[in-house]
Amino acid sequence: MAKRHPSFVCQECGAVYTRWKGKCEACGGWNTIAEEAGSASPMAGPVATRPSRAKGRIFPLEGLSGESKEAPRTPSGIAELDRVTGGGFVHGSIILLGGDPGIGKSTLLMQASAALALRGERVAYISGEEAVAQVRLRAERLGLGQAPVELASETNVEDIIATLSQGRPPALAIIDSIQTMWTETVESAPGTVTQVRGSAQALIRFAKTTGTAVILVGHVTKDGQIAGPRVVEHMVDAVVSFEGDTGHHFRILRAVKNRFGPTDEIGVFEMSDQGLREVTNPSELFLAGRDMATAGTAVFAGMEGTRPLLVEIQALVAPTSLGTPRRAVVGWDQSRLSMVLAVLEAHGGLKLGMHDVYLNVAGGLRITEPAADLAAAAALVSSLSGNPLPPDTVYFGELGLSGAIRPVAQSPARLKEAAKLGFSGAVAPAPRLEKGKPEKLPLATSSIGHITDLVAGIAARRRKAS
Ligand code: TYD
Ligand code: MG
Repeated sequence: MAKRHPSFVCQECGAVYTRWKGKCEACGGWNTIAEEAGSASPMAGPVATRPSRAKGRIFPLEGLSGESKEAPRTPSGIAELDRVTGGGFVHGSIILLGGDPGIGKSTLLMQASAALALRGERVAYISGEEAVAQVRLRAERLGLGQAPVELASETNVEDIIATLSQGRPPALAIIDSIQTMWTETVESAPGTVTQVRGSAQALIRFAKTTGTAVILVGHVTKDGQIAGPRVVEHMVDAVVSFEGDTGHHFRILRAVKNRFGPTDEIGVFEMSDQGLREVTNPSELFLAGRDMATAGTAVFAGMEGTRPLLVEIQALVAPTSLGTPRRAVVGWDQSRLSMVLAVLEAHGGLKLGMHDVYLNVAGGLRITEPAADLAAAAALVSSLSGNPLPPDTVYFGELGLSGAIRPVAQSPARLKEAAKLGFSGAVAPAPRLEKGKPEKLPLATSSIGHITDLVAGIAARRRKAS
């Protein structure tokens, strides 16, 4: 007997249930399951079984060696954006751009569209959220009113595809946003997972057949996931997220997934009254306004992809007034902080059980590298002891559970960036011995091998100072 189509779909993750539930078992979301009428999409619900063909078509299998062509691309002309996409928009590829509301997604895409259109490419900007007049107003504010971008305010995917298929296919089509789109092939309401998935599928087919690069804008939930269409993430060629908090001017563009390029590159922008400005030297920006005389701050020499990036890590360790001390962290991993604290207690001889600990990465940046361990530890020890760290020194190194400081990749690039910005010293693990030649380091590096050396070094600063 054929199974009935389940029609309760989690609006966060797309999990399908046969009856309503208060909590989604797949993603843990509460009250996210909604009833959806008949799922026409083949990806939702069980696939109807077809009688199998007696014989399949035979296709040639090929070897790994052989000719391969570099995918043709259209660069946007915005260097920070091209760095993240891997050198421009690949023809026929589909990119999902996620980000909080108001972060500047529409602004960035308008700037990219205008740049391409001004170079003579056909660019279509379809807004499902704003009226044409609003989009025009933004373009005017950005000083791009004259760019020959083709605008429309539309939400029906079939209409959009029919319109864009006329004449020369566009080099770039922007769909702002995928959550507002709806397709006639699916019966559910716009914004539901089934609709979003159906619309995305139709647009992907359009991109693949015409060679148009399509960018889908996607909304993001409070915890940073692309809302609703988690499934869409698997369907697209690249997922790019636009981050930053609205209190800061910096915006970071980060590739989360990229079938045609690197995923660890970031693009840095600054929001100004004339739109997004590229930041070519982000370290200068992230170190601006640094307070060098206070205890509890350390400069971390990090890497984002192939680009070194210096950021300030701030720590505050203060006696607690609560039974359970608070541990709060902004811009870094909470469990990484717990680990560093545990190692400092176990091997560094620090007593932190009666202290609140706050850790903050300045400038609204989010760090994921384990190499930040040493800088975080230095900031914590400095704050607890009240001894400021030397202002002209950078820190990097990964901390092991034994208290050993492990070497990290790309030390020379980190040191070179620090030297370029006027730093004169570094505290870091001894670099891995490359075959033979000892490399000349661009600045004085004191190698440390264990967390006790760090704690002793910072404690010694007080004795020197007093
Ligand atoms: P927008 O691109 O509409 O964000 P999204 O599409 O991600 O929701 O940008 C909205 C914010 O950007 C808004 O709060 C105003 C600000 N902004 C500027 O500061 N300068 C500008 O030139 C523009 C166009 C926007
Ligand atoms: Mg927008």
